Amino acid sequence: MKKPLRVLVLMHPTLVPPDSLKGHTPDEINTWKTEFDVVCNLRKLGHEVRPLGVQDELNPIRVAVEEWKPEAVFNLLEEFHGLSNFDQHVVSYLELLKLAYTGCNPRGLVLARSKAITKKIAAYHRVRVPAFFLVPRGHKPRRPRRLRFPLFVKSASEESSLGIAQASIVDSDERLAERVRFIHESLETDALVEEYIEGRELYVGAIGNERVRVLPTWEMDFGRLSETGEPIATARVKHSPGYQKKHCIDIRRAEDLDPAIVRLLNRTTRRVYRMLELDGYARVDYRLTAKGELYLLEANPNPEIAEKEEFASAAAASGLGYRELLTRILTLGVTRPGPLA
Ligand SMILES: Nc1ncnc2c1ncn2[C@@H]1O[C@H](COP(=O)(O)OP(=O)(O)O)[C@@H](O)[C@H]1O
Ligand SMILES: [Mg+2]
Repeated sequence: MKKPLRVLVLMHPTLVPPDSLKGHTPDEINTWKTEFDVVCNLRKLGHEVRPLGVQDELNPIRVAVEEWKPEAVFNLLEEFHGLSNFDQHVVSYLELLKLAYTGCNPRGLVLARSKAITKKIAAYHRVRVPAFFLVPRGHKPRRPRRLRFPLFVKSASEESSLGIAQASIVDSDERLAERVRFIHESLETDALVEEYIEGRELYVGAIGNERVRVLPTWEMDFGRLSETGEPIATARVKHSPGYQKKHCIDIRRAEDLDPAIVRLLNRTTRRVYRMLELDGYARVDYRLTAKGELYLLEANPNPEIAEKEEFASAAAASGLGYRELLTRILTLGVTRPGPLA
């Protein structure tokens, strides 16, 4: 896209970035690096950019739209009212205002944010997923016989590894009941209990609306964590540079994958993208067992796109530099067929 646009960038109010990195600690920068990278690079591309903090009120969006008439909204919201599955309502509001916006449409967000719905749709499409059952708040788990220990307990709707720790892996009915209670009480959401899948953890990015481009596979290398416990992506594993360094954790291009597995990853990612009605850009997460069985863990519409993180790195590895990636995401938002198309 050659034409400069007026772009309104939506983000959490605490993440509105400064104009320069000068005088900020690495920890500070780490919290708003995505917002900084996007705003800064959109400006370098020649766009007129306004960051807007949105947390629990829609009116500031309406005011900004009426006063400034943005030609596109770049959506970096990950929550509304502190709830991660509320961002889909903000995107619905953008549609009601007939605004062009980046990232995933509301239907895709609803389907992918629910790990249970994702798994039900995946099973229909014969995409392999861990067997699971749901424990609604206020209920005790009644484990179906076919589900054997170890099991993995997580929130049915939260993201960002909230509530995920070594204790999420349970090996008895007693521990299962304890962890389910913990999810119900501390996160105030339903709990999902699924088979624990041992294996390599792989991430596949994809970009597109009708036509989807699949990025090279990235892998979470858990480093020395496997020596002391089960390798799982807790919040610290994902987001704490200090912790990553200490345990030699690294996220990088997956090496030594059998070509048949690479084809399976590409094909499955396209199918997952379509079956969940995703568009814009997304990252699909898998576990690959030693037997070569590929399990879908979840799909993440609107994944993290900081310049140095896995999605943008995978895009760069496939020849799409950071500014080209942002341009692609913006173009997909502006050219998306309307909801009635
Ligand atoms: N069924 C499972 N088997 C093995 N590991 C799992 C399973 N479910 C989740 N995990 C581990 O927990 C991490 C976070 O789980 P995930 O379902 O992706 O939630 P979030 O939305 O918080 O990222 C995964 O990246 C993986 O390391
Ligand atoms: Mg995840």
